Amino acid sequence: MTDTLTILRPDDWHLHLRDGEMLQGVTLHTANHFARAIIMPNLVPPVVTGAEAEAYRDRIMAAVPASMTFEPLMTLYLTEATQADDVAAAHASGLVKAVKLYPAGATTNSQSGVSNIDNVQGVLERMADIGLPLCVHGEVTDPDIDIFDREAVFIERVLDPVRRRVPGLRVVMEHVTTADAVAYVQADDSGNLAATITTHHLIINRNHILAGGIRPHYYCLPVAKRETHRLALRAAACSGDERFFLGTDSAPHTDEAKLLPCGCAGIFTAPNTMSCLAHVFEEDGALDRLEGFTSRHGPQFYRLPVNSDEVTLSKQADPVRYPEYIETGAGKVTVFDPGFDLFWRVED
Ligand code: NCD
Ligand code: ZN
Repeated sequence: MTDTLTILRPDDWHLHLRDGEMLQGVTLHTANHFARAIIMPNLVPPVVTGAEAEAYRDRIMAAVPASMTFEPLMTLYLTEATQADDVAAAHASGLVKAVKLYPAGATTNSQSGVSNIDNVQGVLERMADIGLPLCVHGEVTDPDIDIFDREAVFIERVLDPVRRRVPGLRVVMEHVTTADAVAYVQADDSGNLAATITTHHLIINRNHILAGGIRPHYYCLPVAKRETHRLALRAAACSGDERFFLGTDSAPHTDEAKLLPCGCAGIFTAPNTMSCLAHVFEEDGALDRLEGFTSRHGPQFYRLPVNSDEVTLSKQADPVRYPEYIETGAGKVTVFDPGFDLFWRVED
């Protein structure tokens, strides 16, 4: 039995750190294990310009405990008013590593997102020219489309046409949740397409949210789908295919904001993500592929060096206990409960 595993330090290619008291409370939980993270720009108001991204990066750095090193990889929130020159300058300076497309209304704080993709054609063309990746929240917002179908319909109606109209655009399909998305990535031979997969979508299906009572702490967007889709995500993550890598989408909301008649979408997985992933990869006989998923495939797609230091995971005889929730200045934030005991932990 393997009981220790040393891998290159992981990165998180999709993370919400928020701002203010929440930022202060959650940043260390990522910086504890991860060297870098792609930081989502869906603040209120969103991080749209290079200047806003720079100011946000400074606030994040101020929230990193002095004993830790952490590099936030900044993104810009794409709006229909985004200026291609501003995006290009923010990229050229090294500040910005991706631009994020939220279809308007698709998820938390996406009101300022894109309603008509034709209106951002010029920005996308410039991004293709300079090789700057577009991170995509891939769901249509059309009320006629069933929420469980919104990802698959987005691929057909929006993503595939855009990729044909802007050849060379480098795209990360964020937090894929369906076998359809996995198949779309696998079928691509351009080298310009990749996908992130969250920790929780490897573990929960829609029954976890709805069967035997409604569980708001398992509600996120894109919503978890049926079991066949979860299995397709597991197979993709554990396959060693370089086009799939970790983006936890750790998305802290206070319990107060989640436990409502209309609660927020988002699951906070930062503290126990690496333990959960080691469990999943071991279960699927793929522990030797964990490093690719968490530490190698992401930098390769983003054309960044891999991290130079390592972390060691060790398997304990007794379950590793994580707190049920963390306290932040903004309020209590419940930590993801995988629903089974965890035995792997990252050594200090
Ligand atoms: C995210 C959030 O809370 O900002 N929520 C979520 O359910 N994943 C937004 C997002 O990534 O869709
Ligand atoms: Zn997210």
